[in-house]
Amino acid sequence: TEIEWSGDEVRKGGFRHFMLKEIYEQPDAFANTLSSVKRCSEIVDSIKKARSITVVACGTSANASLVFSYLMESVCHIPTRVVLGSEFKYFPTPGTDLVIGVSQSGETADTIAALKLAKSLGAQTIAVTNVLGSSITRVASSVLYTRAGPEISVAATKSFISQVAAFMQIVNLLTDHSLEAELAEVRRYIPDVFTIDLSKAVDICKDAATLLYIGRGMFYPAALEGALKMKEISYIHAEGYAAGELKHGPFALLSLETPVIGLCFSSTVYPVMMSNLKEVKARSAPLIVIGKEHDADLEEVADVCIMLPDVSEYGSVILSSIILQLLAYHTAVALERDVDMPRNLAKSVTVE
Ligand code: G6P
Repeated sequence: TEIEWSGDEVRKGGFRHFMLKEIYEQPDAFANTLSSVKRCSEIVDSIKKARSITVVACGTSANASLVFSYLMESVCHIPTRVVLGSEFKYFPTPGTDLVIGVSQSGETADTIAALKLAKSLGAQTIAVTNVLGSSITRVASSVLYTRAGPEISVAATKSFISQVAAFMQIVNLLTDHSLEAELAEVRRYIPDVFTIDLSKAVDICKDAATLLYIGRGMFYPAALEGALKMKEISYIHAEGYAAGELKHGPFALLSLETPVIGLCFSSTVYPVMMSNLKEVKARSAPLIVIGKEHDADLEEVADVCIMLPDVSEYGSVILSSIILQLLAYHTAVALERDVDMPRNLAKSVTVE
């Protein structure tokens, strides 16, 4: 018997949704980005010379940019701030010599307008984009391509991982290859994340009215991005919080109806993160924790533990972001949402 496939089904390559296909393409996207950035030594040099950097971006690209600012400030000691594309025009940074526009599509009007304004104020401009010849590439003085490959699903997945990979590779090159082995290791572990059973976590998330995602350090932007993925495609209200901020407001929300998703990996923030998780548990919120395998303390505090391979902190940021994409995906599927084309959203927003 002949099976007829539509053009879309062929392009989905056997996956139910583009989003899932794109999640599975992440090992290659990650590797392609690392080598693409390595070939851009001139751009890396100009970043090295900057006295201060402003990054402009929207949505998922802004969350990836926060990882960049954390790394640039803590590892490379260059002041780096992130300004949302739509806000830049109200407070363009005085005296920033380098402005980097980050946009998967290269078509986001707010990010392009911010970059144009920065240029008119005399800043050097760099575009970080996934799409060859996109509008942003005609505005910036130089372009760094992430090369994640085409992304069809409205919710960004592999383009986020590629942006974060690009930023980690920049930091690696600025610090003379000290991260080379760590980054090479990450790619090998990504497929292991695809096999993790998320059904218990999905059961908790799908009936929630609100979900709080918490993390510290680089896991804070990962929490922001996890929450953004969840709200975009499942339509469940979700917020990312720096874990230390919970007590400044969100504690009032904690109850049996507000599950919390914590990112807790062995790093300098582990002990404080652990006490935040205990505070959440003491207020009877269901607790899903994402951490490293063989961490018995986490199993004790969490209702559901999602254990990831034991990799470096950089690797854990990547792997935990991927697991949060999958959690959003499976929750949206369980709720029968239109995963690839969520209501009211567009892949690129070309109006300011
Ligand atoms: C839209 C998309 C988001 C994306 C944002 C920025 O809102 O739905 O997924 O993160 O635009 O897009 P960009 O192409 O500039 O990264």
